[in-house]
Amino acid sequence: MTQTISEATPTAAATPAEPGFAVRLNQVTKVFGRGGGAPVLDGIDLTVAPGEFVCLLGASGCGKSTLLNLIADLDKPTAGTIEIGGGRPALMFQDHALFPWLTAGKNIELALKLRGVPREDRKAEAEALLELVRLGGASRKRVHELSGGMRQRVALARALAQAGDLLLMDEPFAALDAITRDVLHDELTRIWAETGRSVVFVTHNVREAVRLAERVVLMSSRPGRIAREWHIEIPQPRRIEDTGVSELSVEITDQLRGEIRRHGRA
Ligand SMILES: Nc1ncnc2c1ncn2[C@@H]1O[C@H](COP(=O)(O)OP(=O)(O)OP(=O)(O)O)[C@@H](O)[C@H]1O
Ligand SMILES: [Mg+2]
Repeated sequence: MTQTISEATPTAAATPAEPGFAVRLNQVTKVFGRGGGAPVLDGIDLTVAPGEFVCLLGASGCGKSTLLNLIADLDKPTAGTIEIGGGRPALMFQDHALFPWLTAGKNIELALKLRGVPREDRKAEAEALLELVRLGGASRKRVHELSGGMRQRVALARALAQAGDLLLMDEPFAALDAITRDVLHDELTRIWAETGRSVVFVTHNVREAVRLAERVVLMSSRPGRIAREWHIEIPQPRRIEDTGVSELSVEITDQLRGEIRRHGRA
């Protein structure tokens, strides 16, 4: 039940000490409560390579958020080990979780401050991150002045302001309308390619997973285990309505349905 975080930083990525993985889970099991209950996660083995984009897909309640929280070190596994390759991971949720009393820029500057960026550099760096998520010029806006999609962009910029190489995303676009989500898929793909981060993206939306990921990992329910995985060879940028995305989504949905049927859940 250890969580180790190597001291390697993004700038140290080329050193011989590079761990060769963004995160490595070995036989991770999670039982809530005082033991005796059924495990929510059971013997999860998963390695994410540096720069890889992995979608974790599974039915509601199968343990996706639990797994992400363990990787983020918000909770501890009951058994097994989790090793992180490149600094403390950044976490982004369905809810933007921005501080409403701060402007967009100040929300990002706070993350930079926590990372230890000197005060005089924070403003320019926050501006650059807002540019990256195509919100240049919005730095003085308060959270309530932003649309849902804009808030998630700020939340993404804030996650990118953190030091770690690994971005953990828990259904970050689930509350958005389809068109805004589509635009943000494009943006995330672009930013992932530009920044070289590793991403673990949780979703129960099969098409979203196939649209985004290099690898889709399907989890079973009760207990959460890795049921199957697919390497997605369709070149980026993809569109959610591409034939290849649709065909693979049908195949994966059939598997997911099988998982849900097996556990008697709708
Ligand atoms: N802190 C907790 N204490 C007890 N049980 C928990 C706790 N957190 C999660 N669980 C249980 O663990 C199981 C997995 O929950 P989790 O939130 O990880 O699922 P999920 O796959 O993220 O679902 P969803 O797609 O609905 O977000 C559920 O049965 C849930 O009730
Ligand atoms: Mg969840």
